[in-house]
Amino acid sequence: MTKNYIPLHEPKFNGNEVKYLKECIRSSWVSTNGLFIKKFEKHIEKYTKSKYAIFCINGTHALQISLLVAGVKSGDEVIVPTITFIAPINAISYNHAKPIFMDCDEYYNIDEEKTIEFINKETIYKNGFTINKKTKKIIRAIIVVHTFGNAVNLNQLVPLCKKRNIKIIEDASEALGTHYIKNEKYAGTVGDFGVISFNGNKIITSGAGGMILVKNKKNYDRIKYLIYQAKNDALNFIHNEIGYNFAQTNLNAALGLAQLENIEKIISAKEKIHDTYKKNLNLTSNLKLVDVPEYSKNNYWLNILKVNRKYKKKLLHFLNKERILARPVWQLNHLQVKYKNCQTYNIQKAVYLHKSSICLPSSYHLRKEDLFRVIKTLTNFKF
Ligand SMILES: Cc1ncc(COP(=O)(O)O)c(C=O)c1O
Repeated sequence: MTKNYIPLHEPKFNGNEVKYLKECIRSSWVSTNGLFIKKFEKHIEKYTKSKYAIFCINGTHALQISLLVAGVKSGDEVIVPTITFIAPINAISYNHAKPIFMDCDEYYNIDEEKTIEFINKETIYKNGFTINKKTKKIIRAIIVVHTFGNAVNLNQLVPLCKKRNIKIIEDASEALGTHYIKNEKYAGTVGDFGVISFNGNKIITSGAGGMILVKNKKNYDRIKYLIYQAKNDALNFIHNEIGYNFAQTNLNAALGLAQLENIEKIISAKEKIHDTYKKNLNLTSNLKLVDVPEYSKNNYWLNILKVNRKYKKKLLHFLNKERILARPVWQLNHLQVKYKNCQTYNIQKAVYLHKSSICLPSSYHLRKEDLFRVIKTLTNFKF
């Protein structure tokens, strides 16, 4: 009998998904307007304690628009971590700006200390702008990514960026539900803009979709205007600016809303999976599950295993041969063809983590026997 295949991260639809989708279809509001969009946005606002939430086409374009509204212009520079899915880096390029790549910390997040050191040593503050000493360009923003659901340590960075007029865009695509213990703020609500993704591989999904979290009505109105084709007079088709078709549909919102209703259940199931991996894998000296930060409550989106770099490829191959989908961490973005000539700052840890990390199956509905099959396969591997 062939073993069943264990995916890395799969969605599950066991709430009001079908009911809401049927309601949506019956209402005939299936495109980019409708009640489910409003309800989904309101529910996200309440859950994340965000002032405003805007549902849009996906996380990638949510980042693009956030950068645009943050004031990022052609020729500007944006600080960004090298370890992340490539979407935030491309979002910088869509705005004709350039990334400056930063190292990461033990949680695969941007290294706060090094970022501060870079700003203090390698930039000057002149006429209200932070200028890169090397390129003489304005550093207009920083994208911090809450990688794998781990909250970025932002304590020192927030006041410094405020002082230096650098806008903070939080990419919380992977971190819906993660929040800081001290102030109970949710990932995506600390900086100037927050972005969440509802792609099928995220903690909840709307099929495709993104949410932009903002703190004031001015940014809310501006984003709504831009993503709905910049309509100045909808009746007469007057558009005074170049708009975008980045709004997302009521159908997707219906799906997302039904998923969001189950978020607490999902996070608590994911926490148990993390604990089980940790308890069983850390017993062996060759395997170490990566811890989550102690200063935040995690959503446990993806579990990461650290192994001796000598064995990483072999172990990945072994797991996949056993029909267990395990994957390496994303290629470092400062090494990608399109970005290899961009500025970097003292990248070390990211290189080490990239060489030694493996992403493990983490679906919240992972069956107990499948979880233990992953654990057994890992512990049986000959190091
Ligand atoms: C950190 C990060 N940012 C952005 C995105 C892009 O989101 P989307 O797929 O919704 O465009 C993803 C994942 O897909 C992601 O993991």
